[in-house]
Order: sequence, then structure tokens, then C-alpha cells
Amino acid sequence: MSKVLFASISKKFVMALAGLFLLTFLPVHLIINLMLLKSDPASFNEAAHFMATFPPVKIFEVVLIASILIHVTYGIYLQISNWLVRPVGYVSGNKSETSFFSRFMIWTGATVLTFLVLHFFNFYFVKLGLVDGDPEDFYSMAHNLFKIPAYNYIYLSCFILLGFHLFHAFSSAFQTLGLNHRIWTPVVKKVALFYAILIPAGFGLISVTLWLFR
Ligand code: HEM
Repeated sequence: MSKVLFASISKKFVMALAGLFLLTFLPVHLIINLMLLKSDPASFNEAAHFMATFPPVKIFEVVLIASILIHVTYGIYLQISNWLVRPVGYVSGNKSETSFFSRFMIWTGATVLTFLVLHFFNFYFVKLGLVDGDPEDFYSMAHNLFKIPAYNYIYLSCFILLGFHLFHAFSSAFQTLGLNHRIWTPVVKKVALFYAILIPAGFGLISVTLWLFR
């Protein structure tokens, strides 16, 4: 196998591992965010405080930031390499559902990245003291943000596109890791669909509830 091909495959492998780690983080984030639906701010603020201060979680945070940086850098790198070997305008003969979603991975990913930057300015940079705000009361900050209609439009659009990213990402990562199986691959696809609907729907529920019903 040529060195160039091997380097490209190993980048995809590392990217898939980083992506899988991000997939495990999303349900944890969603469970914490669901506490925003409670009328008492205490449990959400306590969970946020715990996530910000408990030392083992700090290690998790470093791994999380590294995973985002690795996944995004390799994702953009692999996409540009693909474009260079396969000029824009190329029409694939394979019109399968998978190839439809895979063709838009860079754009759904770019939308998620834009949202992450916004999200970091709203919360993470406040925690680091780089942006004004009260890191001990993320509950009120989140409730205030969800009162802004434009924020909800952006939030909901980004989570719908995240759903498309997740649907292809889930099965693609298994394929990249060489975990293809006659029986299990169709099961993985069903779980991918369930996951890709459930996660954005959960975050969307919080947005719509705080925007329209509180
Ligand atoms: C919560 C955020 C995200 C999660 C959970 C996630 C997860 C994943 C996973 C598991 C894969 C499959 C890897 C593989 O094909 O083996 C993937 C693919 C991909 N991701 Fe993400 N991702 C996220 C955000 C992003 C962002 C911000 C970008 C930035 C541009 C991005 C760009 C890509 C691209 C281009 C691919 C396709 C790579 C390929 O098939 O060649 N992703 N993602």
C-alpha cells in the first residue's frame, strides 16, 4: 500500500475515533440540558458547576476539545483531498441514500462548527472568563438566550443539520473501523437513524419549550 494512501486511511481512522467520542458526549450533554426544563435552576446549575470543577471531568474536557479539533481538521483536510482528486462537478453514478448523506458531510459539519463557535462564545468562554457572564448561573443565561426568536431559528436549523451529519456519521465510523458485518451492519443503520432523530429532537424540545411555553 502506498505511503500516501496509508496516511489518508490512518487520518480517516483517527477522525472516526474522534467522531465516535463526540457521539458518546452528545447524550451526556442532552441529559444535563434537559434539566433546563425544570422550573428550579438548582439542579442544572449544580450539574454545570460539577462539570466545570470536578477534576476527572477536566480530563474529559481536554479529550473533548482535542476530539473536536482533530475531527474538524482531518474532516476538512480529507474533504479538500477528495475535491482535488475528484474535481467539483463530478457526478457519482451511485445514487444510494448513503452517498446522498455522505456528499453533504462537509456542509452539515461546517454548520455544526459554526454553531459550536457561537456556543463557545455563549457558554464555554464565559466559564473561562473570556466573555462577560455569570458561570454560576448558566440556567438564566440559557433561558434568556432561548427567549430570542432568531437564536431559536439558528439553534433548530443547526440541530436538524446535525441530525443529517449524525445519521451518516454513525454507520460510516463503524465502516471506517472495519466493523462491517452481514447481520450487524443493518442493525447499526437502524440505531444510527434512531440516534440521529432522538438527539436533535431532544435539544429541539428544550429550545421550543423555553422559547414558546415559558
Ligand atoms: C457533534 C459534532 C460531530 C460529531 C458527533 C461528528 C461525528 C462524525 C463521525 C462519527 C463521522 C464518521 C467518520 C467516518 O467516516 O469514519 C463523521 C464524519 C465527518 N465529519 Fe463529523 N462530527 C461532528 C462535527 C463535525 C464538524 C464540526 C465537522 C467540520 C467540518 C465535521 C466534518 C465531517 C466530515 C467532512 C465527515 C466525513 C468524512 C468522510 O467520510 O470522508 N464533523 N463525523
